[in-house]
Parts: sequence; structure tokens; C-alpha cells
Amino acid sequence: MIKREIKEKIKDSLERIYDISVSLEDLDLEIPADKSHGDYSANICFRLAGEVGKSPKEIASEVAKDIKNDLFICESKNGFLNFRLTDSALEKMVKKVLKFETEKREKTMVLDYSSPNIAKSFGIGHLRSTIVGQAIYNIYEYSGWNCVGINHLGDWGTQYGKLLYQIKEKDLNPKELSVKDLEKLYVDFHKRAEKNPEMEEEGKRWFKKLEDGDPEATQIWEICVEKSMREFEKIYDLLNVEIDHHIGESFYQDKMEAVIEEAKEKGVAKESKGALIVDFGDEIPPAMLLKSDGGTTYFTRDLATVKYRVDRWDPELFIYEIGADQKLHMRQLFKTVEMLGWKSESDFMHVAHGMYRLKDGAMSTRKGKTIHLEDVLNEAMKRAEKIIDESETTGEITEKEKKKIAEKVGVGAVKYADLKKHYKKDIVFDWEKAFSLKGNSGPYLQYTALRAKSVLDKHDEKFKLEINKLSDPEKAVLKEIILFDEVMETAEKNFTPSSIANFSYRVAKKFNAFYAEKPILEAGTEEEKIQRLSITKAGFEVLKKSLSILGIDLPERM
Ligand code: ARG
Repeated sequence: MIKREIKEKIKDSLERIYDISVSLEDLDLEIPADKSHGDYSANICFRLAGEVGKSPKEIASEVAKDIKNDLFICESKNGFLNFRLTDSALEKMVKKVLKFETEKREKTMVLDYSSPNIAKSFGIGHLRSTIVGQAIYNIYEYSGWNCVGINHLGDWGTQYGKLLYQIKEKDLNPKELSVKDLEKLYVDFHKRAEKNPEMEEEGKRWFKKLEDGDPEATQIWEICVEKSMREFEKIYDLLNVEIDHHIGESFYQDKMEAVIEEAKEKGVAKESKGALIVDFGDEIPPAMLLKSDGGTTYFTRDLATVKYRVDRWDPELFIYEIGADQKLHMRQLFKTVEMLGWKSESDFMHVAHGMYRLKDGAMSTRKGKTIHLEDVLNEAMKRAEKIIDESETTGEITEKEKKKIAEKVGVGAVKYADLKKHYKKDIVFDWEKAFSLKGNSGPYLQYTALRAKSVLDKHDEKFKLEINKLSDPEKAVLKEIILFDEVMETAEKNFTPSSIANFSYRVAKKFNAFYAEKPILEAGTEEEKIQRLSITKAGFEVLKKSLSILGIDLPERM
């Protein structure tokens, strides 16, 4: 953690010389583009000029003289503090990073992600939740947390009463219906109900039957659940995502009453116009625990879910990877939990992802069409096959092998296009960019990693670095990879897989620059060759680890 060490030294020094205390968070360290400014640069002296009563230049020069350390050399230049890593420090840090050691923490987090709805196709919004959620899970696992991943499936609520009504009323055999058919039935219900409002009552009646455990309603519902799950599982397989627990909303049917009672007893819930609500004052609108007809809501189930998670895992942290459109719902939930005294609001995090749009082409959202995940993934695989066909390095391969590679490249491209963006941002999915072999894309990173791997496969493994003999592009790779731990820490703190994605890109770029300038085959001596192989190995390991944390697989070859 070189940046942390530097910051601590600056902090100590400022305290020693001026008796001024700054927090590590306030201490920015830049990585200057111009290497004559060192490997890291701090501008803190500018900010302290007033308080200290000296010019930034004077302060910087005094601090630079005071800081003594064998990890780096500190120089002052025009008020900036510039730090240059020593060779021995770089070597030590490279070795440390490559161990990928993290400390186990006695802490548990529960992550709620993916969570599609039964009887509806798996939408693109759920794709984001799945991809970003899985990456967050991996980040926390890597960082030593005890992780519990939960698929909070939408399988309960009046909409399923409406579906049951449709199936019964049209006298359909649920076994013969596909998920698309079920989705259509649901849409059709709303069209019909516009003209026949009494249908709403029928929907409610059927949901009531389901809630009361009516055998017929239960049986049809179970068939719908099973069908949807089979579809979802295909998608999870393709995405190579495995979620620890699939616990749908229906699971909480018999757990809501106790929660409602507790909320009443603690004075958190109150009656309003025949309904039971949680009132938050003027700040945010109330949440509904019981509707005036006595029915429970999505909110009631989410509250019961928190209770269940507290009782079963007692986590220190609750993470929800859900679209930003549910911000209000989440705020209401977290507030209610605190009002009930179960946990504090600050133990909860809503990773509220932005929207997903396709840039243009047949699946443009501008035409008002919904995007089906299946279509996106199929198109992705087609494009990946094209890359493989055009690649010179793939060699002879069977059709079956090609399909397998295309799957990893296609899925990797879609995942990466998502992960490289901060989750808050909307995604405008651009096919060209997602598959560009020259830019910040999944295929580019996979390709870079595989290229390194194929070099390593052809040579004996010997790892030896003599930093003082390395050229700049060689050192640049190492200086980038030693930031791995810090990047992981940032990703954990901010819930941002994007930090890792963009770090991987920087590693790949530096690696490719080194690879172009210092080809292994052109090494003059055996010693030089071993050095280059060692850098290749270091770059490869860090890239592989980063991609695996992002949930991006490496194909056998490309
Ligand atoms: N099924 C919900 C939807 O598609 C998402 C559920 C998110 N998780 C939760 N605990 N509310 O909108």
C-alpha cells in the first residue's frame, strides 16, 4: 500500500514540523503523467500556506527535507512534493501484490442482487444487477468478508393473482405455457381490465386464494415458478453466475405478521385511512405495510426479509444492488429498520444502478421496444465469433470450441461494458466499443491476458526481477500493478467494480506497450529474457485476478 505509506509520512512530518494535523482522506496523491514529477505527487503544501504562514514552496522544501524513508525519495518542486519509488521498494511491493493476501475479517455482509420476477422475462435491468452484484460479491469475498448472496426473486404479489385468473379464465394448461406466454397473459390482463375494472377484484381474489394456500392456485403458481426458474438458470449458467441462496418473496408470507405486530407495538406503524403505514414525517412519503383491504405489499415483504436476515446471519452490512428507480423504497426500508431498532440506517447500502440503453441498431430503445436479454447475448456471441474468425492467433479449431470461446468473449464483452462504468451512470450500450480490440473492452483485456499467458506457457517459469536493470516501459508495468491492493480497497469502500475494471485497462495498456517495445524473443541475454518473462508473469497474474474478481472468464484462446 504505497500510497497509504506516503500519506502517513506526509502527515507525520506536518505534525512534527508545524503541529498541524491533516486527515489521510484529505491528502490527495496524484500519479503525474509527466514522470519528471516522480511517481506520486502531493499538492497539500498549497492548501496549508495560509495556516502555516509560509509559501507552498517553503513548506514543501521543509517537508521534503524532513521525510526520511527507504521506500521513496521525496523532492520538493514549486510547492509540490514529488515522490519517486526506490528500486528495492518496487521489488518488494511487486512480490507482495503477487501473493494476493488479504486478512480475514470477522464481518458478514448480505448482498441482495439479480432478483428477477417470475413469469416475466429476465430484463436488462436485472442483468445489470446480476453483473454488478456478482462483482461486488467477489470484491467483498476477496477482501476477507464472510459473504451471503441472495436472489430475492419476485414471486409473490397481486400480479400473480392476475396471472392465475387469466389462466383459469382462459382455461389454459399452465404446463404448456412458456415464460413469454405468461408475460403476455399479464400484459393482456391490464388491457382487458381497462374496460372491465371488475377484473381487478378477480385478480385480488386469486391472490388471496394463493395466500390462503388453496391447492389449485398453489399448483398453478408452482408450475409458473418452476418454468421461470428454468429460464433464469440458463441465463445464470451462461453468465457463469452462482448465487448462494434463491429465496423468493413468497418465503416471507408467514413471516410478515410478526413484523407487522412488532411495528405496531413499537409505535412505528400507524393506521391511516384504513391502511397501516409507516410515517416518516415531511421528509419522505409514508410506506405502506398493509393496504386498506388488508393485503401486504412489496415493502412488507422487504421488511420481513431484513428481519430474517438479521436473525439468520446478523450481518454488519446489507447491500442491495437494485435500480435507481427504487431509491425511495430503499430509503423507506432502511429508515423503518432503524426505527424498529434492528440495525442502524448506516449498515445499509443501496447500490442504485442507472439505466441501460442500446446505442442504435435493431435493438434500439428509441424505437420504444423493450430489450430482451436473450437477444443481446445472442448478438454478443455472433460478434465474438467474428472476432475469432478474424484472429490470427486462434489457429485450427472445431466449431464446438469456437462456440465455447465465443460464449466467453461475448459474455465478457457485455459484462465489461457494464462494469467499467460507475454503477450510478446510465449505460448506453455500444456494440462497436464493447467489442473493440483496441479500446477499453472485455475482449481487449481477455486478448491481452491470453497473449501473456501463451508466452508464459512456452517458457520455463523463472521469476527474477532486478529493477535497476529495467527500462521505463518495463518499470511502468510494475508501477501500475503495485496499485492493486489500493484499487481493491477503493472498490470495496465505494462498491465500485468500475475501479477494478479501469485499473485492469491501465495494466493492459502498460503491458502491451512493454510487450511491443521489449519482445521476449528479442532479448539479448538469458538474463534479459528472464526479466521480461517475470514482468509478463506479474502483469498476467494481476490481470487474471482482476478479471476473475469482475467475473470475466478467460477463454482457452482467442
Ligand atoms: N424483483 C424486484 C424487481 O424486479 C427486485 C427486488 C430487489 N430486492 C429487494 N429486496 N427488493 O423490481
